[in-house]
Amino acid sequence: MKIAVLGSGGREHALAWKLAQSPHTDKLYVIPGNGGTENNLPLSLTDFPALKKELDQLRVDLVVVGPENPLTEGIVDFFRDSGIRVFGPDQQAARLEGSKLYAKQFMRKYGVSTADFREFGPGHDSLTELKKTISDFGEEVVIKYDGLAAGKGVFVCNNMPEVEENLADMFRNFGRDCRFLLEKKLKGSELSILGFTDGHDIRLLLPSQDHKQLLDGDAGPNTGGMGAFCPVPFCDEKMITEIRKKIIEPTMQGIRTEKFNYTGVLYFGLMITAEGPFLLEYNVRLGDPETEVVLPALQSDLVELIEACFHNELSGFPLEFVPGYFLDVVLTAGGYPGPYEKGLEIYGLNDLDEDIMVFHAGTKKANGHLVTNGGRILNIVARGNSLEDAIRKVYSNCERIVFKNAYYRRDIGKRVNRIPTIQ
Ligand code: AMP
Ligand code: GLY
Repeated sequence: MKIAVLGSGGREHALAWKLAQSPHTDKLYVIPGNGGTENNLPLSLTDFPALKKELDQLRVDLVVVGPENPLTEGIVDFFRDSGIRVFGPDQQAARLEGSKLYAKQFMRKYGVSTADFREFGPGHDSLTELKKTISDFGEEVVIKYDGLAAGKGVFVCNNMPEVEENLADMFRNFGRDCRFLLEKKLKGSELSILGFTDGHDIRLLLPSQDHKQLLDGDAGPNTGGMGAFCPVPFCDEKMITEIRKKIIEPTMQGIRTEKFNYTGVLYFGLMITAEGPFLLEYNVRLGDPETEVVLPALQSDLVELIEACFHNELSGFPLEFVPGYFLDVVLTAGGYPGPYEKGLEIYGLNDLDEDIMVFHAGTKKANGHLVTNGGRILNIVARGNSLEDAIRKVYSNCERIVFKNAYYRRDIGKRVNRIPTIQ
């Protein structure tokens, strides 16, 4: 089978690495790819006619989409009946990620456990209502712009001055009459659960945890993700059962009722609180950097798992996992998520221990040398018999990689015992 992976980050390198292990994969392309991936093709991910022409010529059978944009722009709809199968939801179903308001309405309609919210924007923008909601929610609110904003549309506020400042910021960025939500702020531990679905059944990968903030101790600005690990020790069978009952099953009921065309990955971004699990968001694709740990932890053949989704054979699929823990530390450019230098030479990748996996993100090859080409540069991943073992392995290797102003968090996987206490 000829397969093309769309995207250029660590997630896509991990996807390509896992797909390449399948005996069903004869040829693998990555579009546009990065300095760590092979058979890269420099094509736009949203110019569907040009993409189709190239994929037809290469006789590609299957496309696996990394990022959300091609999905929310309708790549699955465009390729329908083309002979090329695209693994992902169609445009209608992709609204579960593309519109935060749509996602919350869907959650409410199908009884999915989620934070209380109100909608604002054209037709709903009375200042009195806004003030009342903020006071009802105890001034601890999350403001969410209703649209894709590359991670820059969510503002978590702890008091009135922060609410005012962030609202002003959002209006500046997205216009005074933009549509947005106010959501009650939840307290607890975040957890990511990714599942493969055919629109009827869903099979879950191991639970994982992302570390979004730049600095140790979850301080500093939000980033695209500074590291991840799986499985998550506090997420035991009992918790998974509760998450299935309150979040996953009502979601699948909704997907079936709405008759969504959904053959792809569904990502549940959860907050585990003292009152149980709440859903913060859906993503309609694999998460980054979660993918860099959950795919190495998947023992089963990924091509066969994807095929099982296309053939509605998920329920009987023998899903298997590698025992132990997987941990990913992201090496970033100095200055990220603000402005940073590019084109810096990277050294030391040949000096890593044999069992270390490296998934490239912002890298490229220039004049035969690997150089930085983005904010998040490399994912350093290891398996350990315990989480501590995985942490030790990854960190002893991070030190050996050198590029100017390299930065990484020192506490990935070290703060996992923050289980909220039941009051
Ligand atoms: P979202 O894109 O909706 O997942 O929001 C991005 C991030 O904002 C989440 O990963 C959380 O860290 C935070 N967040 C979103 N909604 C809430 C909420 N209701 N309570 C607390 N934090 C939240
Ligand atoms: N790790 C969060 C995301 O991929 O959106």
